[in-house]
Amino acid sequence: MNTPSQRRIVLITGANKGIGHATAAQLAKAGMKVLVGARDRARGLAAVEKLRAADADTDVHFLELDVTDDGSVARAAKHIEVEHGGLDVLVNNAGIATGSTAPSQEEVTTMRAIYATNVFGLVAVTRAMLPLLRRAKTARIVNVSSSLASLGLAPRRSAAMPHQNRVFAYSSSKSAVNHFTVRLAIELRDAGILVNSACPGYVATDLNRFSGPRTVEQGAKIIVHLATLPAGGPTGECFDDEGVVEW
Ligand SMILES: NC(=O)c1ccc[n+]([C@@H]2O[C@H](COP(=O)([O-])OP(=O)(O)OC[C@H]3O[C@@H](n4cnc5c(N)ncnc54)[C@H](OP(=O)(O)O)[C@@H]3O)[C@@H](O)[C@H]2O)c1
Repeated sequence: MNTPSQRRIVLITGANKGIGHATAAQLAKAGMKVLVGARDRARGLAAVEKLRAADADTDVHFLELDVTDDGSVARAAKHIEVEHGGLDVLVNNAGIATGSTAPSQEEVTTMRAIYATNVFGLVAVTRAMLPLLRRAKTARIVNVSSSLASLGLAPRRSAAMPHQNRVFAYSSSKSAVNHFTVRLAIELRDAGILVNSACPGYVATDLNRFSGPRTVEQGAKIIVHLATLPAGGPTGECFDDEGVVEW
């Protein structure tokens, strides 16, 4: 077991519930110090209490972080540096899928709202954490994406997923996330920082009114795998439990 000072430190955004919370539990169990990012203080503290109640030895801490608020992002980066001394792994998990609409006038409004969290928030958090990650020995970045992002799969899936058009705003936001993964992986290759997208599958959470067949524990598995990749592992790819997901 790692002593507290040897533990690698991971920040998970949106870790107060759903897949992010299950990822926090699994990475804490794997011996990491986990910073539970949450935009709401009460929900974040309750999530930390729940993780500690499940495992008293777990090294988990609340971190207030609204990914859409530049001030909150800057404060979070400063807090990590001052209170925890660094950051080894960033899991960009926070995401929304609200306001799905049929193609219509509302589409741009929906896209703006979804992109603010899923794309602009994710990029802002990553940029703020990069100075800390660059100082780590074996930094990893995992961007939580979706197979709905895949341009290659979309036409082939349209028969099985007639509702696909209604989730265009969400799906395209994850396509942008995937593009960021590729770009960042190239930018950080020489620094040895591995950057990948993770597709958790269709998981029962608040995001989809608990309609998915998979559990949060199953969804977290690929994120945990990518967060703990050994040196020389893949970078600039998108993975689910089965392997590489086509772009
Ligand atoms: N569920 C699926 O089937 C599925 C499939 C593929 C990909 N994903 C992706 O998996 C990730 C986690 O989703 P989930 O299914 O676990 O959904 P969830 O249960 O709704 O969890 C989403 C998390 O993101 C947080 N969040 C939302 N906006 C935020 C903001 N501005 N700042 C900080 N945190 C924010 C939420 O916090 P609050 O509690 O404060 O709202 C919550 O903790 C998302 O990126 C989602 O797109 C999910």
